[in-house]
Amino acid sequence: MDDFLVIDHVTKTFGAQRAVDDVSLAVSPGEAFSLLGPSGCGKTTLLRMIAGFERPDRGRILVAGQDITELPPEQRPVNTVFQNYALFPHLNVWENVAFGLRMGRRPREEIRSGVDRMLELVRLAEHARKRPAQLSGGQRQRVAIARALVNRPQVLLLDEPLAALDLKLRQHMLMELNTIHEQVGTTFIYVTHDQGEAMSLSNRIAVMNAGKVEQIDSPEHLYETPRSSFVATFIGDANFFTGKAVEMQHEGYVRVMIEGLGSPLVLSNGVVSSNQMLRLMVRPEKISLTLKRPLSGERVNAFPGVVEDSSYFGSHTRYRIRAGEHLITAQLQRSRFSGGEISPAHGTSVWMSFHPDEGRIVRLEDAA
Ligand SMILES: Nc1ncnc2c1ncn2[C@@H]1O[C@H](COP(=O)(O)OP(=O)(O)OP(=O)(O)O)[C@@H](O)[C@H]1O
Ligand SMILES: [Mg+2]
Repeated sequence: MDDFLVIDHVTKTFGAQRAVDDVSLAVSPGEAFSLLGPSGCGKTTLLRMIAGFERPDRGRILVAGQDITELPPEQRPVNTVFQNYALFPHLNVWENVAFGLRMGRRPREEIRSGVDRMLELVRLAEHARKRPAQLSGGQRQRVAIARALVNRPQVLLLDEPLAALDLKLRQHMLMELNTIHEQVGTTFIYVTHDQGEAMSLSNRIAVMNAGKVEQIDSPEHLYETPRSSFVATFIGDANFFTGKAVEMQHEGYVRVMIEGLGSPLVLSNGVVSSNQMLRLMVRPEKISLTLKRPLSGERVNAFPGVVEDSSYFGSHTRYRIRAGEHLITAQLQRSRFSGGEISPAHGTSVWMSFHPDEGRIVRLEDAA
């Protein structure tokens, strides 16, 4: 992969606050890349530095090998769609999209064909003569995207562009954004605090926490092998157990002693020695529940517990299982193929089990 957009040790401080703290990352040409993290973690600040609205205290930003750190916004090969996509209320859809090209004094024919092509792309051709007030939220959002794409930026920056839309419309617009990204091939940098949005849209995601990047990976890798408790909880749900490595095994497995629960065998990623304290993470949907102890021998981790409560979500049910001090969440999806699994009532004694490959060792220092 070539590096196309490069953020090189960028820091930005406001007063005493370090909004972006020594961030480095590289985005490939045509990639859909997300900055994901909780409110205040520095996503917008980083995006504004890429756009040129904010100047880094330290570090460089490069696009296609060119250092753009000192360039004013209008000279950068990037364009931005903001959360409150301020359209011009007195201009119709067509004129809103044409605005940037007109300002750039492009030839009339180029403006006409460019705007028409964009309105086709975002499926608004038949609404071209409407004003923003006559459009739905999703349609307005598509106008903002067309307007940002019409002068063919090399990088499109999107800052929580769907935040104002309701859930159904957001899901619909996510699919549209995917299609638009495939068709134009422009590099997308997508800012969101919504892990679902980032996962469904991105080739890779940078998870940010307090101005720093915690992990950059594909959605699958972030979910399956989070490196820290922060990433594990921000991307999906997780059970955490603090324990001690008691027995390193060949083939890359380690047995972990967890006070009050037992000694599961898990993949030994990152564990170097016995007696090391560590944190084990197991996703709720990786835990199955049975009335009898599973028989498959020592390669299945099984622990007894008692169902404390359950919540029904339609597509799945979540159970909280008490095992001594531990309160463990398990999530079951009911289907005709789910074999020995059960729907236990409160107070039922059950066995929780998970495969050794489903346990993840994460860094201990950042307690969840
Ligand atoms: N112009 C500014 N002056 C002072 N502090 C600022 C300024 N802009 C941002 N900050 C601070 O920097 C930190 C990062 O802000 P930023 O807007 O980048 O967060 P964010 O990740 O986009 O959050 P959100 O998800 O809420 O939009 C915040 O603590 C914020 O208060
Ligand atoms: Mg923001």
